[in-house]
Amino acid sequence: GKQTFTMIKPDAFAKGYTGAILAKIQEAGFRIVALKLTRLTAEKAAAFYAVHRERPFYQSLVEFMSSGPVVAAILEKDNAVEDFRKLIGATDPAKAEEGTIRKLYAESVERNAIHGSDSDENARIESDFFFSALERV
Ligand code: GTP
Ligand code: MG
Repeated sequence: GKQTFTMIKPDAFAKGYTGAILAKIQEAGFRIVALKLTRLTAEKAAAFYAVHRERPFYQSLVEFMSSGPVVAAILEKDNAVEDFRKLIGATDPAKAEEGTIRKLYAESVERNAIHGSDSDENARIESDFFFSALERV
């Protein structure tokens, strides 16, 4: 697939990492085709991560994701989903490779700086969750 969806999470936005993270994404060859600073209500965060609703960390994740602004984006590149997951690194920053966005900017397995879609289908669903047609170039 040519596109993926990403979100800079509230921890990284609050620490002022947005510019550095977007620069790293562009340096890795991704083109930004949609971008917005917004906030998730608890209801929207719960819907976005509904696949994890049975997990013990779900309530905490929903509270975290609705605790402050996020930066959502659609990114374009060949093999976008897989290459972007490599760029952000493992879910737990302690296990993430050197130079990955989570290794550089994440605090913990929950407050891990950035989201990346895990499939082409989810990239499309998540992009549509945040962006209308007119908000994309
Ligand atoms: P996303 O790109 O945000 O979807 O992360 P991921 O695909 O690397 O991980 P996953 O989809 O399994 O989990 C979604 C999010 O839930 C993670 O990014 C973390 O913010 C949080 N999370 C995952 N595992 C744990 C955990 O064991 N404990 C806590 N507190 N949070 C977790
Ligand atoms: Mg995931």
